[in-house]
Amino acid sequence: MKAFHSFRLDSVNQCVWRGDERVTLTPKAFDVLRYLVEHPGRLVTHEEILEALWPKAYVNQEVVKKYILAIRKALQDEHHRPVFIETLPRRGYQFLAQVTDEAPVASTALSEIAEKRIVGRDGALAALEGLVDKALGGRRQIVFVTGEPGIGKTALVDAFQHRSARRPNMRIARGQCVEGFGGKEAYYPMLEALGQLARGDGGGSVVQALATRAPTWLIQFPSLVKASQREALQREILGATRERMLREICETLESLTAADSLILMFEDLHWADPSTLDVLSALARRRDPARLAVVATYRPLDVVLSGSPLKGLKRDLKLHGLCEEIALERLVIADVGAYLATNFAAGLPAGFTALVHRHSSGNPLFMVALLQDMQKKGWIARDNGTWKLMAPLGRIDPGVPENLQQMLDAQFDQLSAPEQQLLSIASVAGERFSAALISSSLDLVSDRVEDLCETLAERRQFIRAATTDGATGAALTAHYEFTHALYREGVYRQLSAVTRSRLHRRIAEQLLLRRPVTGGPELAAELARHFEFGHDNARAIDYLMKVAENVRGRFAYRESIRVLQHALELVPSIPSDVAFGLECRIHELIGDAYYVLGAMADSARSYEAAASHASEAGLQAAQVSALSALVRPLGLIDPDRGIAVVDRVVRVSDGLDDPLLAARTRLLAAATRLFYDKWRDEDAVLCAAAYKDLGRLSADDRPSYHQMLYAHVLALMGQYDEAIAIFDQALLRIDESSSLMVHFFALSGKTMALLRCGRFGELLAIIRDGKQEAAKNGNDPWLFNFREAWPRVLLFDFEGARALCEAMLTSGAEYPTGQSETIARVSEGYAALGRGDTRRAIKCFEEIADPRSTRKFFLHWTWRLVAQLGLTDAWLAWANPDNARGSCDLLLANALATPDPLFRALAWETKARVAMASQNWEQAREDVARALSALEGFAVPVAAWQVHATACKLHAHAGDRGTAEAHRDAAKRHIEAIADSLVADEPLRASFLSALSVRTVLGRSAVDR
Ligand SMILES: Nc1ncnc2c1ncn2[C@@H]1O[C@H](COP(=O)(O)OP(=O)(O)O)[C@@H](O)[C@H]1O
Ligand SMILES: [Mg+2]
Repeated sequence: MKAFHSFRLDSVNQCVWRGDERVTLTPKAFDVLRYLVEHPGRLVTHEEILEALWPKAYVNQEVVKKYILAIRKALQDEHHRPVFIETLPRRGYQFLAQVTDEAPVASTALSEIAEKRIVGRDGALAALEGLVDKALGGRRQIVFVTGEPGIGKTALVDAFQHRSARRPNMRIARGQCVEGFGGKEAYYPMLEALGQLARGDGGGSVVQALATRAPTWLIQFPSLVKASQREALQREILGATRERMLREICETLESLTAADSLILMFEDLHWADPSTLDVLSALARRRDPARLAVVATYRPLDVVLSGSPLKGLKRDLKLHGLCEEIALERLVIADVGAYLATNFAAGLPAGFTALVHRHSSGNPLFMVALLQDMQKKGWIARDNGTWKLMAPLGRIDPGVPENLQQMLDAQFDQLSAPEQQLLSIASVAGERFSAALISSSLDLVSDRVEDLCETLAERRQFIRAATTDGATGAALTAHYEFTHALYREGVYRQLSAVTRSRLHRRIAEQLLLRRPVTGGPELAAELARHFEFGHDNARAIDYLMKVAENVRGRFAYRESIRVLQHALELVPSIPSDVAFGLECRIHELIGDAYYVLGAMADSARSYEAAASHASEAGLQAAQVSALSALVRPLGLIDPDRGIAVVDRVVRVSDGLDDPLLAARTRLLAAATRLFYDKWRDEDAVLCAAAYKDLGRLSADDRPSYHQMLYAHVLALMGQYDEAIAIFDQALLRIDESSSLMVHFFALSGKTMALLRCGRFGELLAIIRDGKQEAAKNGNDPWLFNFREAWPRVLLFDFEGARALCEAMLTSGAEYPTGQSETIARVSEGYAALGRGDTRRAIKCFEEIADPRSTRKFFLHWTWRLVAQLGLTDAWLAWANPDNARGSCDLLLANALATPDPLFRALAWETKARVAMASQNWEQAREDVARALSALEGFAVPVAAWQVHATACKLHAHAGDRGTAEAHRDAAKRHIEAIADSLVADEPLRASFLSALSVRTVLGRSAVDR
């Protein structure tokens, strides 16, 4: 704190102290003084001051003179014998006094003053202090301070904050909830409080804690993230959810209380967004020790009227003993007496106390306003240093307005016309406003507006100077705030509907002019509100969509849906030429949010709505976009409908002259049919052609979703290296534009390719990381469970695969159950086969092989092939060669209808075994040769070792030991490659190596390896 002479400059409270006495200055005068104090002992020119304090406005030098005058008056400096400020004529000023830096004194004086102003709250203050003591012992405390507007909630928590600030090792941060849609932005008050902690004393450790424990929160503060950390952070938060955000903030706050205690204060929680309430709820319910107190104020009646979830939350917390409530009561007559005694000395008669109490009914805000009014009317006045009643009580009594609102209205009526005009526009701007914004909206020169604001603030009426955020600095423009929300509401209510909407529009336009288009998140919400109330719904919708995007960045998908639904409500009132397009886009965004939430049916419904609006309006490009999106949820819940939809997409997009779009839709359509229906060569050809077009037409160097569809097709055709290269390239870079869905699609596709080429170690690593990430995010790892089931089957862990799938079946999540049912049944079949329960095995495999008994899902046909393989094996085990032959013929026909070398080779190999079982050696030799040639040109060790093992048996039977051994060696090499792709202690490695058929190849010695 800068000190000079007997004065101290208090930048936090924007005032000057002389000892314990507060010397009040208007905000601009304070800024001028601060500037001089910060540049002492030299000439400071008029221009310099203007440049520093009014950088963007045209301000007359005379204004500076006026402030210097005010400062001199406040410091009692004399113009001709100055001690502090010397005027250097026509040039400027010089600050004369010696300036020293003083540590901010444990501001007793300050807090005493704050506490002195409040009366009748000793009990409440003691209760709050008691709760903080408990919190200091490690037992977290959640306290609600409740009561009607003006009852003194803010005054109480202010006083409490001042007291608590004196405690050692204490951090305090505050977040304010705001009325209206702006306030509904997810986590707004929490982010505000966190920002204070990060910028305050010891902020470095807060940033550090965020970096290690709460990346989802750190990313909300772009200025705290170094450019070099950004990509790692983006990767870290991919797929984050609401649950994760909640957990991370709780853990971070708790970790901060290891070294210091923490008090979080949330003001006006009746206006809070649901996410902020979730934070509160989570903080209250966690059990770990934390030296944390949360103090939150709210108006109970507003909570009931708005239907805020706070009502239920409070009830529930109270029921479980997880929160305390301090309900503030009206002041009693003795409190009013105490107030008058402190503020008006002892000069006022006893009857006067009763009068003030009766009229204000003990509401402090009413009381303060009443006394101001009386001073203004001259009923009470200072006479020779003491306060006196200037009129008989009997005359005062009838003149007092009946209720608080009338009181405030009456005060408003007494103001000058320019003051009223200024307050009117300020009431539209909001609780807090900048003088510059008002002046540009009023077309008044800014110093005139500041003048008006300062006079009002000086009279402590309606508004007061607001402390500006340290980051933006006071130099930009003076800020003011309404002394109480009821003042703003009162003024606002007096405006006619027409005026309101005109002023809202005006303010919105000024906000747009004054700040960059990419203004902070709060700006979007503010603009949306002003445009909506200004009846410019087109622009309101625009900004609501931006709000939804911001909220999405906080993983608050449900809230983004709510914002978008609100935007939809505004659509009917805008011109239809834009309305249709917007409506489609909004429905599509809602569909995206539902998709991320895993609500596939809702997602499909929203995309469907988008598509049908687009089709009605003849917006074909929008229709293509919506229908293409629709395929994604349908693939999971109703593949047949998905297949029908892609045909529609192609028809619509063919009607447009857009080659890139046409290539995309053709790829999507063909790949969807391949994945969800069955393999057709002509679709594969279509995919390849479209893929080539895409490479030619699109500018992005990263593979798109569509290009990855093709990579899947490549993997099915045995082109693993090429497919993996595409997936890897997609996984390489992660930034804001990376889509979660595309990322997962790449991972999933890569596991499919890795499996076929026997790289199980890498495959399992992807699955393990994916599951860890899902656990961190609180997501269902269903995709990774599916991708884990098949390697388990191939490595002979049938029991593991079955358990995995059964667990998924019972979890009740909304994912494709057909897939888990199928894999569970196939695994069960193999397990039964291993046990010798062949009858059971046959039943399981038959069920899956029959498309009528299990539904379609992503690549369902590959599983039907696996089942047919199993069924043939089961018939062989049953010693029923006829049935085995029948089943194998079907298997072969189906496998040969696909290009997949895995199934083609295994189908021939199985056929050879069927032939061997019937002693048909000639046939078997032919089949083995076919199996070997199916492998040619492909690296599919999972099929190759089996083919060579059978070849070995066949040649051994024929007595050709040399060839038999060569095949055994080949089989061994493939088995070893598979085993070596797994780390030594991976249980699946042991499972594979101890399987009977594998042991047979390796010989006895291998069992002990
Ligand atoms: N206990 C009190 N003693 C004296 N004045 C008070 C007290 N509580 C509130 N006030 C005055 O009443 C006004 C309204 O109180 P405030 O705390 O803003 O109400 P709330 O937050 O409950 O709406 C404050 O500006 C303050 O001047
Ligand atoms: Mg308040």
